[in-house]
Amino acid sequence: MSDTQQSIQWFPGHMTKTRRKIKELLPLIDAVAEVVDARIPSSSRNPELKELIGDKPHIILLNKCDMADKAVTDLWIKHYKTQGIAAIALDCKSGKGLSAFKDTVKTTLAEKLEYYRQKGMVGKPLRVMVVGIPNVGKSSFINRVAGKTRAKVENRPGVTRGNQWFTIDKELELLDTPGVLWPKFEDATVGEHLAFTGAVRDRILDIELLAMRLLEILSVNYRDLLEARYGSLDFECDSYDLLCQIGKKRGMVIRGGETDTERAAAMLLEEYRSCKIGFISLERAESDA
Ligand code: G4P
Repeated sequence: MSDTQQSIQWFPGHMTKTRRKIKELLPLIDAVAEVVDARIPSSSRNPELKELIGDKPHIILLNKCDMADKAVTDLWIKHYKTQGIAAIALDCKSGKGLSAFKDTVKTTLAEKLEYYRQKGMVGKPLRVMVVGIPNVGKSSFINRVAGKTRAKVENRPGVTRGNQWFTIDKELELLDTPGVLWPKFEDATVGEHLAFTGAVRDRILDIELLAMRLLEILSVNYRDLLEARYGSLDFECDSYDLLCQIGKKRGMVIRGGETDTERAAAMLLEEYRSCKIGFISLERAESDA
């Protein structure tokens, strides 16, 4: 059985536990900050989260924006805004965009802060639960925001021991996801998009098929970047032929003059993931359900 199949089979049980823990903790928090991968904002979300958090204020952190197409990320931010969700672009590798986080929390929770002020509840910190599927950069985000002063708060009354609370400063506390949130694995496109970015391991997938599927997307929106990297290409062909053209350009030829498509596929995926082809977003806001 492949890892993916295994994940699908144990997904429901694990989500039940995480769902229960999140529900238990919701009354203790003021907002939910959801970290997603800016290159694939739809596929890198948990399908149940929206329903789970109900009307709790929600902020989306489009992380890894350093690897995404800035124009597309900006459109995602606008798109979430129309849904009443605040969103910011982040690069937790360099720290870019992080300074906007606290202000975004305060703006999102302006009504609550006003209520606290009116009631004289000054000094009450805002509590934000940070959620996200594995590999979106949740830990990097918490480490960045908490910085050197990162202090774990344990044994909070009413909070089960083991929950990961972090005091950022006297105004803000973060809670790490209590459990693991999974993506919508049962959707083949989601699985592929997670594989393109490297969030799912290649060895469980057909690498040539994956590279062909990636080329299908790139040849719609990023022909210029493909040609800048691999030279002029004939796009009037199927994605297998396109992969062959790219492989040939790199001298990946086996006996008989055929392209070594497996090597070409591995090279293409590696060059996509390391942004050698460019800063590329694989999902666009207009296709968001
Ligand atoms: P998680 O807690 O959500 O599972 O994710 P985590 O922070 O462990 O990050 C997963 C990978 O993504 C890490 O790379 C991390 O460095 C990288 N990453 C996180 N945020 C950003 C970002 O904004 N930009 C870029 N380019 N990368 C980011 P890794 O290869 O697994 O580890 P390492 O090479 O950093 O040691």
